[in-house]
Amino acid sequence: MVIGKVETGITGLDAMLRGGFPEGRMILITGGPGTGKTIFCSQFLHYGATKEGEKAVYVSLDETKNHFVEEMLTFGWDFKKLEQEGRFTFIDASDVRRIPEQAFQARQVGKLPVSGKELARARLIDNIFKTFEGGRSIDRFIGDIGARRIVLDSMSGLTFRFPEAWEKRQAILDIMEALNNIGATCLITSEAISTGEEKQVQPEEYLSQGVINLQTLRTGERAVRILKMRGTEVDSVPRPYKIGETGIEVYSDQSIYQT
Ligand SMILES: Nc1ncnc2c1ncn2[C@@H]1O[C@H](COP(=O)(O)OP(=O)(O)OP(=O)(O)O)[C@@H](O)[C@H]1O
Ligand SMILES: [Mg+2]
Repeated sequence: MVIGKVETGITGLDAMLRGGFPEGRMILITGGPGTGKTIFCSQFLHYGATKEGEKAVYVSLDETKNHFVEEMLTFGWDFKKLEQEGRFTFIDASDVRRIPEQAFQARQVGKLPVSGKELARARLIDNIFKTFEGGRSIDRFIGDIGARRIVLDSMSGLTFRFPEAWEKRQAILDIMEALNNIGATCLITSEAISTGEEKQVQPEEYLSQGVINLQTLRTGERAVRILKMRGTEVDSVPRPYKIGETGIEVYSDQSIYQT
């Protein structure tokens, strides 16, 4: 079966991906603070909405809508206008960061006694995915919109509550499953800093179908690397990228070791 490709809108990256992201898959964008994860994802959404006429959804766990809209306008991307035209939806799920600690310590859901840990997970997922709007879950809501491109920024904003590995893994699995069922191409950002060489592979990295790492090197140079992309051959050599006035540009014919 030939998997369809979704153009990213990021110059140079589509060449590395041999056409774009595999359609309907879940791709993780990893990188440290300030490496451009939010810009990367916004560029992907903006391109889809303006060039492909696709509906785009941004689920934010970090930034408020006003901040987001303002920041992206500096690249000439007018998300306010796209929203008014019905091509873009911003979902502010940042409240999940402010769930009171007591909610994580209760011992009962309805009449059902559960352990604190199980409840923590249930509450978290409930808060953003089950009781979002008019009783609809976020994934239902996004599905009803008919979105083809979805961004969840960031996974770290969701899972920082779970210090224990099994718990974190389960929360990530729940979220990924809910998003995957929508069938849209989905980007999730994560601050995991694995570069492939390191041993610390995060659960979201092996649970997603693709992983792209953004890195700022000690020299100040920025490098993008495709660590994994199931179902398609890709260029896995680290390539330089820049963040400029029009967003992210990847130099897919250059190597980061070039002078
Ligand atoms: N107009 C611009 N021109 C060039 N570079 C810019 C511009 N605006 C932002 N940047 C660069 O982009 C970086 C921020 O990008 P972005 O917010 O996408 O990073 P991030 O990986 O999402 O960070 P965080 O982990 O903090 O959310 C800044 O550190 C800055 O270097
Ligand atoms: Mg960000």
